[in-house]
Parts: sequence; structure tokens; C-alpha cells
Amino acid sequence: MPPFKGGGMEIKMKDVEFKILTNEALTGDIFKMTLDGDTDEIRKPGQFVDIKIPGRFLRRPISVCDWSENKLTLIYKVVGEGTEDMSYMEPGDYISVLTGLGNGYDLRKIPKNPVIAGGGVGVPPMYALAKCLKQIGITPYVALGFNTKSDVFYEAEFKALGVPVNVATVDGSYGAKGIVTDIIGDHDYALCCGPEPMLKAVYNVVKDGQFSFESRMGCGFGACMGCSKKTKNGFKRVCKDGPIFMMEEIAW
Ligand SMILES: Cc1cc2nc3c(=O)[nH]c(=O)nc-3n(C[C@H](O)[C@H](O)[C@H](O)COP(=O)(O)OP(=O)(O)OC[C@H]3O[C@@H](n4cnc5c(N)ncnc54)[C@H](O)[C@@H]3O)c2cc1C
Ligand code: FES
Repeated sequence: MPPFKGGGMEIKMKDVEFKILTNEALTGDIFKMTLDGDTDEIRKPGQFVDIKIPGRFLRRPISVCDWSENKLTLIYKVVGEGTEDMSYMEPGDYISVLTGLGNGYDLRKIPKNPVIAGGGVGVPPMYALAKCLKQIGITPYVALGFNTKSDVFYEAEFKALGVPVNVATVDGSYGAKGIVTDIIGDHDYALCCGPEPMLKAVYNVVKDGQFSFESRMGCGFGACMGCSKKTKNGFKRVCKDGPIFMMEEIAW
């Protein structure tokens, strides 16, 4: 289980050398990397790490999919040069990773019957979230959305947590035909991560919730303002004030 230590405590950034244990394809372009190293500053589901790719100027932000003492799991999609470089990294290689980034989901605000809604590369952080919720006695209903059958990953891993899971694909080749909002039922409270159109669609059909946003990042730890996003409470940094935003503060 992730060593979830409750909310409210100060989280500090830490630069850690991790050793790659495994780096394997889950689908054609989705990879799972497991790493060995100091996970002390990873405290809450929904946080992310920032990975130094040798030869590339900016680090790449990737959500924490799972963690335990000294073990970190990341799931990433190959979309450009940095993530392509990551896909060639081998067990035994060492990488520099900033941990302790992002606010994470506030588990203290979650009611008994939430829906976890994850879409595409928004699915990985929802695994740690489901695991931590089970740990505090909440069984979430999990709705996962993908484009097509060959994109689907981690359905079995969610089911192994003992949570109800439903999958939708846009082309109907697996699970229900449609998008995540077609399978979230009448749940009022959503915990959501995925592409922005998906976040907005979920936002429009629930009464409350927490939503994880992406932004291009410079520093990744709150210093450059490069990731600023307009909210109802002024501009906020996705890397430091987010990536999770409460429903009431989101401005589209
Ligand atoms: C908080 C957060 C969590 C994320 N979690 C995951 C995850 O768990 N799995 C996953 O596959 N992807 C995740 N992403 C997206 C991931 O960071 C980008 O896909 C990745 O940085 C692309 O790098 P690249 O070099 O392959 O692509 P390129 O397009 O070559 O990247 C060029 C630059 O743009 C930035 N960039 C490109 N796409 C994105 C993006 N979508 N969001 C932010 N920066 C981007 C890169 O970091 C790099 O600095 C996350 C992004 C954020 C902000
Ligand atoms: S990326 Fe620098 S403040 Fe967010």
C-alpha cells in the first residue's frame, strides 16, 4: 500500500536518484516504469514527479501511479522526444527525479461514494488514489475512458483492489461505447484526471469534486509562474497550487 500519511502536512521537494527496475510496454505507446529509490516526500495520490532526461533541457512531469517505501511506479505515453527517450531506458539505469511535487487529492473532503473518472494518461494517478481511498475505508466506483480497445490498460489492476470498475471506449471496441461521462452513473462527487474536454464534461454532470489539470511546465516547483492557470481565486500555479483544483475554484 502507498504509505499515505493523511492530509495537511507540509510536503517538500526532493531530488532523488532512482534506479530503474523495469520499463515495459503496456500497450503500443504506453509504458510502465518501476523505480527503486527514496519515496519519502511522495505523500498523497495525485502528486507528480519531474524527470530529468539526459540531454533535454526541461524535466518531464509524470504522475505518481503507485508508490511504497523505496518503490515508485510511473505510467507514461510516448508522445514526443522526452518520453521516447524514456522508453529506451533500461533496468539498471539511474535517473534524477524531483519528488514531492503537486498538492495531491484532498482525501479529507471525499464523501463515502465518489466516482473516480480517469481518461487516457489520466488513468495512472487514479490507481494510487483508489488504493489510498480503500485504505481509509472508502470504496470508489471507477470509470475509465480510452479511445479504443488497444489503448486500454490497468483495468485488471483496479479490479484487484476490490473496487467496481467500468470501461468506455469512444469507438465501442471494448466496454461501453462512449466517453467517461456515459458510465459515471448518478454519482455526485467526482475525482477526475484526463484531457481537459473530459474534465469539463465531468464537471458539467456532477455536483462537486476535485479535478487534476495539466500544463506545460518550466521549473515544476512553483518558481517560474510558467504553468499559471486562471481560477475563480486568481491565477494559480498548476505545479504548486495544483495540479488538483476543487470544483468551486475552477474557471474554464
Ligand atoms: C502534472 C502532470 C502530470 C502528468 N502525468 C502524466 C502521466 O502520468 N503519464 C503521461 O503519459 N503523461 C503525463 N503528463 C504529460 C507529460 O508530462 C507529457 O506527455 C510529456 O512531458 C511529454 O514530453 P515529450 O518530451 O515526450 O513531448 P514533447 O512534446 O517533445 O515535449 C516538449 C515539451 O512540452 C512539454 N509537454 C508536452 N506535452 C505536455 C503535456 N501534456 N503536459 C505538460 N507538458 C507537456 C514537455 O514536458 C516538454 O517540456 C503529465 C503532465 C503534467 C503537467
Ligand atoms: S512550472 Fe514553474 S511555477 Fe509551475
